[in-house]
Amino acid sequence: MYEYELQNACLKLLRDMFQMKPGESIAITCDTESNMEVVDATAQAAVMLGAKPLVIKIAAPRDCGKAGDTDMPMKGLVGAVKNCDAWVEYNNKWIFYSTAYDKIIEDPENRPRYMNLCGCNPELIVRNIGKVDNNLLNEFIMSIAEYCQKGKHFRITTPAGTDVEFDNAPGRDYCIADGFVRKGEIKMFPGQISWSPVFESINGVIVVDGTITPPLGAVKNSIKFTMEKGYIVNIEGKGTDAVKYSEWLKSFNDPNMYLAAHLSYGFGPNAKLSGDIVEDERVWGSTEWGFGNVGPQLTSDIPGGIPAVSHSDGICLNSSVWLDDVQILDKGVVVGPTSEIVNLAHKLGK
Ligand SMILES: [Fe+2]
Repeated sequence: MYEYELQNACLKLLRDMFQMKPGESIAITCDTESNMEVVDATAQAAVMLGAKPLVIKIAAPRDCGKAGDTDMPMKGLVGAVKNCDAWVEYNNKWIFYSTAYDKIIEDPENRPRYMNLCGCNPELIVRNIGKVDNNLLNEFIMSIAEYCQKGKHFRITTPAGTDVEFDNAPGRDYCIADGFVRKGEIKMFPGQISWSPVFESINGVIVVDGTITPPLGAVKNSIKFTMEKGYIVNIEGKGTDAVKYSEWLKSFNDPNMYLAAHLSYGFGPNAKLSGDIVEDERVWGSTEWGFGNVGPQLTSDIPGGIPAVSHSDGICLNSSVWLDDVQILDKGVVVGPTSEIVNLAHKLGK
């Protein structure tokens, strides 16, 4: 599917977003669960731009991040990827947050610029990169991120029952997936803003009613997390999802797996709830909580981040968000904080 459009979307990815130059090298990593059409189209786009692609395919590790460490060819992977100018990750069992990843990105002055496209398929890339106005999305994302970084106290509710409050950590940088990947930058797929609040200030209830990955994907019944001072203290819900998730967390025997690692806004204008976390977490007007490992890019004030064995993301659909009592989202619709930002959302078709 999309055999005509995919090449254009991958060219847009490398030319406009990565701004690849002739002679630059780009590592394109994948595993045996990855979609190879996107890998090949990205390598072709690199060649079209005069860049040098290095495709690295590994056997899919048993799990994502550090839980897959033992299955990764660590030294070879680190050596090869670290020495490229750019890195696109298509791995389905992602290298992101693994020990190999930590080693590749440890020196901000000497690392490939990176974008996480884990598990992406042609439809997802065509829909969310090929058919999105990258410059307009950039303007919207940067405006709303800049406003939010200056605020202090957040409250988020959802129709499914989320009601959680927390404070911004002053001086801690937001990770803004604004659609551009500049020198040394670590970027997620465009259409997302992520940040780690003051962990101890996160209190209330988070109800995941979209996707929670790993390990479940789309939930059949919502899962209710009670949060105290940044940690999950109770998990409940109808059916088997809550029990399965609870057992999965417990299996790591790692207290840091219960930490709320980050919050994210989903602002992908074309993102659909598809069961693929990269797209699901960009569903417009959703919020997402990450649990477990806190990557160093999320805690500019804590070098190395906060390690945990794995990391999982849960999505809360149709969020309402208030920052210092100014409403930004109303059940997933952008209603503030300024008329300019609301207008930018309209221009993006939202
Ligand atoms: Fe996350």
